[in-house]
Formats: sequence, structure tokens, C-alpha cells
Amino acid sequence: RTVYLNGDYLPETEARVSIFDRGFLMADGVYEVTSVLDGKLIDFDGHAVRLERSLRELDMDSPVTRDELLAIHRELVARNGITDGMIYLQITRGAPDDRDFVFPDPETTPPTIVLFTQNKPGLADNPAARVGIKVIGIEDQRWGRRDIKTVQLLYPSLGKMMAKKAGADDAWMIEDGMVTEGTSNNAYIVKGGKIITRALSNDILHGITRAAVLRFAREAQMEVEERSFSIDEARAADEAFITSASTFVMPVVELDGQPVGNGQPGPVAARLREIYLDESR
Ligand code: PDD
Repeated sequence: RTVYLNGDYLPETEARVSIFDRGFLMADGVYEVTSVLDGKLIDFDGHAVRLERSLRELDMDSPVTRDELLAIHRELVARNGITDGMIYLQITRGAPDDRDFVFPDPETTPPTIVLFTQNKPGLADNPAARVGIKVIGIEDQRWGRRDIKTVQLLYPSLGKMMAKKAGADDAWMIEDGMVTEGTSNNAYIVKGGKIITRALSNDILHGITRAAVLRFAREAQMEVEERSFSIDEARAADEAFITSASTFVMPVVELDGQPVGNGQPGPVAARLREIYLDESR
């Protein structure tokens, strides 16, 4: 694989980052994942805008302009011959001379920017979309600024492992009895034809796929309600699903071992998946 590191395109084995990098020592960095279908970037602008916001919230400057970022994405897609897959981007606060809680001066410590591709042939034809996934509910023990897409992914990773151990595919996180989101996706239920998903706040990541899916849903005259829902309400829903850049729209058919609705992927999730894939590529 050819990867991008601080201005250079390199073989992945030659890309090296300092042990003092604050991404490594302190999870002081942000990231984005953008999917590629048929060689085309999906929702690039949305990811670029959110990246700029994440950086701003952490008082970091972007080492590249939006145009440069787009050019790097395209170059990596071309160099690695990606038809379907993902591009991972990470920007950290760089590598000062020593470990220190105080932010380094950006003049002397430039940020570290790295991008790499992940080849996923047939990404849009993921067979899981036909059968749906199983989810468990776990307590949300992340920090309070989940709207910033930081690389602090230890708790989501633990959540994914709890799900695997329980024979499920993913976990929905719960705070004060209400579902926040999945480990790496936004969470939805459908009741009486109405699409219900948590409203935007610092409690969840403002999903780029979420924004597009809700827009397409409204354009298709489907009813959308942005509000919190409890795990009990989810259990009694007709349907459930998740959205993210890597799964698009994915039906959830089981919650804590109990079927959601009739235990099959629902028509609303199927329709939204179809519209999303049609409209965004
Ligand atoms: N995750 N919520 C969380 C906590 C996420 O990590 C993600 C994305 C989303 C969905 O956002 P979007 O639609 O913009 O991808 C929601 C990426 C895919 C990841 O960590 O791999």
C-alpha cells in the first residue's frame, strides 16, 4: 500500500511517526473515514467540513487545505487502485521533544497527518445488509465531547468486544436510559413508519451518513423525528438500523438477544439503504 504522511507518498513500511507523537501518547488527534464506491469518494465535503470543525474544537490548525485534502484522497485512490473501500485520515497535534500536558507551540511542532486506504471489494454489497446485524446495549462510558471525532476509541473498541463475546455484532451505548449511538455508527428505530434518531448534541457524533440519510428520507416524504429513545422503546420498535460511512444503512434485527420487529431487515431500512447508495454515488 502507498500511504500519505506529512506531505509524502510512501510505501506503508516506510511511513514512520515519532514515539513522542501526541496521538500515540495522549490520543490527541482527530480522524475521518470516507468510503469509496466505484472509485468515487462518498460525501467527501461533509467529512472535510466535520474534520475542520473537530480541529477547531481542539484548537488545532489543519496542515492542508480542503482542496489539498481532496487531491490527496484522489491520489491515494488512484495509486492503490481502489474501486471500493475506505480512506482513513488522521491528524494529531504532532510530536514535541518530550511528553508534556501543555499543548506544544504549533510553530515548532507541526501536526502529523496520515492517510491510508482500505481495499473492500463489494463494500456496497455487504451480505450483512441482507440479514441484518445483532446489537447489545451497554453503558456509554465515553467522555462528554463525542461530537468531536477524536482517536480516543478505547471504549468503543471494548464495546465491540463485549458485543462479540455476547454473540452480537455491535453495541448501542446507553446514557440515562437513552441510546446515544453505536460504537462507530448512529442508531435509529422505526415505529409506525416514523424514523426516530437522537438529536444532534455533544452526546453523539454528527454522522455525515446520518445527515444525508435524513435529508433523503425527508425528500421521500418519510417522517423523521430527531429525539432520544430508550432501549425499551427500541425493543418494541418495528425496525432498527444504523448508519456510518463504512456500513451506509445497516438493518439491526436483534437487540440483547430479542428480535426487533419480526427479526428480519425492515422495509424502511432497506429503502433508505437503496436511496442512499443510489443518490450518493
Ligand atoms: N465511525 N458515531 C460514531 C461514534 C462513529 O465513530 C461514526 C463513524 C459514526 C457515523 O458517522 P459517519 O456517518 O460520518 O461515518 C457515528 C467511522 C466509520 C469509524 O470509526 O470507522
